[in-house]
Amino acid sequence: MLLCFTIFCFLIESWAQNSTVAPGGMRQLKVALMMPVNMSDASVESNIGFYRSAGAVTIALERIQLENLLPNTNFTFVWYFDECVGSLGSGYTVEAAYVDKADVLIGPACPTPVIYSGTVAAFYNFPIFIWGTIMPSDINDGTRFPTLASTSVTTLSITLTLMEFLIRFQWNEFAFIYAIRRSDLIPKCSYLASDIDNAVTNEDNMTMTYKRNIANDSYEILKEKLVGLKKLARIILVCFESLSDRRTFMMAMSELGMITDDYLVVFIETDRTGFFPSGGGMWVDRNVPPDGKDDIALKAFENAIILDLQPYNLSFDTFNQEVIANIEKWPFYCVGCIDKSLNASSRAPNLADTFYLYASSLNKTIAQYGESAKNDGTTISNMAKGEYN
Ligand SMILES: *[C@@H]1O[C@H](CO)[C@@H](O)[C@H](O)[C@H]1NC(C)=O
Ligand SMILES: *[C@@H]1O[C@H](CO)[C@@H](O)[C@H](O)[C@H]1NC(C)=O
Ligand SMILES: *[C@@H]1O[C@H](CO)[C@@H](O)[C@H](O)[C@H]1NC(C)=O
Ligand SMILES: *[C@@H]1O[C@H](CO)[C@@H](O)[C@H](O)[C@H]1NC(C)=O
Ligand SMILES: *[C@@H]1O[C@H](CO)[C@@H](O)[C@H](O)[C@H]1NC(C)=O
Ligand SMILES: *[C@@H]1O[C@H](CO)[C@@H](O)[C@H](O)[C@H]1NC(C)=O
Ligand SMILES: *[C@@H]1O[C@H](CO)[C@@H](O)[C@H](O)[C@H]1NC(C)=O
Ligand SMILES: *[C@@H]1O[C@H](CO)[C@@H](O)[C@H](O)[C@H]1NC(C)=O
Repeated sequence: MLLCFTIFCFLIESWAQNSTVAPGGMRQLKVALMMPVNMSDASVESNIGFYRSAGAVTIALERIQLENLLPNTNFTFVWYFDECVGSLGSGYTVEAAYVDKADVLIGPACPTPVIYSGTVAAFYNFPIFIWGTIMPSDINDGTRFPTLASTSVTTLSITLTLMEFLIRFQWNEFAFIYAIRRSDLIPKCSYLASDIDNAVTNEDNMTMTYKRNIANDSYEILKEKLVGLKKLARIILVCFESLSDRRTFMMAMSELGMITDDYLVVFIETDRTGFFPSGGGMWVDRNVPPDGKDDIALKAFENAIILDLQPYNLSFDTFNQEVIANIEKWPFYCVGCIDKSLNASSRAPNLADTFYLYASSLNKTIAQYGESAKNDGTTISNMAKGEYN
């Protein structure tokens, strides 16, 4: 009962513990959102920025109401901008749980504040449902983060999949090439690189024969390194954060005559778009003017495998427009805050899923344990486990 601050809550506890509808009127749910806003780093904005994401909450709320998941509930929202900073994440989590007496925290959306917020939330037994970019495997630790539930993929599930995949085909040796380009506020390949190291240590029959961050390599150096790699590995795992790196790498392979059945390049992706990141295939040159070698690149990509997450099951165009339009409406009322020609952020669907997941978990929690469990973070986050579609 640590989080039952209000008299309302005590009344429910003593009078109607297992009822599904709050007595004496509507159930009040205050939802706290946390994400970055107005970041100078464009990649943070396009992945999880507030103005391009927050509207997804309203879309999820419509579905929650349509499915009657939490009938007779009055939702209110507060939001905090953590700017991907750990201290802001922990501070605002205290504010949400203790000062503003929110019922749940939806966010943060970047890895550093997630660790801090998750720790604070554990202290208050405060439910925290995170979304956003790829998360470090630490958050899978249910002892450290008992009140945390996530719809973000962690690097742990990716490396487990990778190892399973390599073992399935009895590939015991591989090279790992990566390039870190993204802001370290929302890392991808650096987490993956360290998790792959750990995974290899834990697999008796698996060896990483070569590893290199090629972010600072010129094209000539890259080719030189590939010549060296040729003798060491035939399975090449790659993790890239920019589109041009993907194509450049395959072009270098092609120039070195490595597009044969002897080599396989495995792209580790998390954008749910497979070979077709927004606006065209991976093999397409986006430079102006283009180099005219797209057919060679396409041929090279035929020798690659992409390991990616399942695409979102939604109609993107409508979703995009609604997310952008919703920021002007309740509860945000932020008129003119965003250039309307922009698309929703890439993780906005993830935010919608997360809020829906919370509603669904709370529904199950109240049905099983009564209204008094409304703020029991550990129970609610346990209820989040399961399959959804
Ligand atoms: C973000 O930037 C816009 C435009 O400069 C400004 O109107 C808005 O108040 C800023 N939002 C926050 C939360 O700082
Ligand atoms: C849970 O959802 C169902 C509809 O799916 C609804 O009938 C029920 O009242 C909900 N329970 C609670 C506790 O809100
Ligand atoms: C919901 O709660 C807010 C804040 O307490 C209040 O202003 C609003 O009137 C309530 N709405 C309904 C439908 O009860
Ligand atoms: C390791 O993998 C190789 C190739 O698949 C196989 O021949 C060997 O038996 C495996 N060793 C162990 C200890 O599993
Ligand atoms: C790449 O270059 C940048 C800027 O010179 C430097 O900060 C960074 O440490 C370099 N990275 C690697 C992997 O060498
Ligand atoms: C989304 O999922 C539902 C249920 O699994 C399925 O019926 C529908 O065809 C899917 N839609 C798309 C666009 O994949
Ligand atoms: C928005 O998304 C669509 C479809 O993915 C794409 O064609 C368009 O270029 C995007 N617009 C912007 C401004 O990025
Ligand atoms: C509420 O439900 C839980 C689980 O179904 C049960 O253990 C508990 O005794 C119930 N409490 C009341 C007051 O009925």
